[in-house]
Amino acid sequence: MIDKRTFDRFRELIYRESGITLRENKESLVSARVAKRMRELNISSHGEYLDFIKRDKDGNELVHLLDAISTNVTHFFREERHFKLLAKLVRRWEKEGRRSVRIWCAACSTGEEPYSVAITLREALADPTDARIIASDISTRVLEKAQRGIYEARQMENIPQLLLARYFQRGRGRADGLYRAKPVLRDMVVFRRINLIAPPYPVRGPLDVIFCRNVMIYFDNTVRAQLLASMYDMLRPNGYLMVGHAESLSGMLSSFTSVEPSVYIKDSAKK
Ligand SMILES: C[S@@+](CC[C@H](N)C(=O)[O-])C[C@H]1O[C@@H](n2cnc3c(N)ncnc32)[C@H](O)[C@@H]1O
Repeated sequence: MIDKRTFDRFRELIYRESGITLRENKESLVSARVAKRMRELNISSHGEYLDFIKRDKDGNELVHLLDAISTNVTHFFREERHFKLLAKLVRRWEKEGRRSVRIWCAACSTGEEPYSVAITLREALADPTDARIIASDISTRVLEKAQRGIYEARQMENIPQLLLARYFQRGRGRADGLYRAKPVLRDMVVFRRINLIAPPYPVRGPLDVIFCRNVMIYFDNTVRAQLLASMYDMLRPNGYLMVGHAESLSGMLSSFTSVEPSVYIKDSAKK
């Protein structure tokens, strides 16, 4: 178990480096999450592990720590309403003559979100040739998984059979029970490690839609406000921001206009 002083050192470091706020009495969570890494390094005390992270000047160990701490729960077509809206929007934009679509999934975890976006775009657009998604996360571990695009059968339950067959390759033999995103999906998505508390972000704008879902819940209002201001600048006028259903921005210092719960627009008509 971690003593209070050492836990506070972890909390401060994690907040400073990732914006993630750990509540008081999360000692056992931190302890459980870093245990495996400490075993790999043959380090037995938490204080010693913190010193090791500090001594590691190229920041690799910090990445390991943040990998261990971040919560990566996600699934295909999570909060489905956003994908229905996205399909409507891109169809409308295409009818208006727009050729390209640029989307950023700003905390993409293991890739289910950007691949759900990619499927939505391919299904909605008559010509998806210039539809691109940039997907990022702070955790290199989840990004590796996302890039491989391989999932277990139980993770595919939210995907209608027709779309599953169209966009995923079913494993055979030793890969039985696994599904891999087909190149048509993988080629639409570029994965990159981006820490949301460290703007400016290496993402070329202007963007049509930003998915920043279920990550701001870990941030305090200072980090949230800074992130929202950056994302506002990166969207094109009338671009959309989708946030998690549990994270309302009401009361936040933000220039966005609310469209419906968890959907915001950079309203070009607003002064
Ligand atoms: C709960 S998952 C959300 C995944 C997906 N957006 C969804 O809604 O299903 C939260 C993700 O945020 C990432 N994360 C946490 N802090 C971050 C930061 N400072 N910068 C970028 N990503 C971060 C975590 O690594 C994790 O993969």
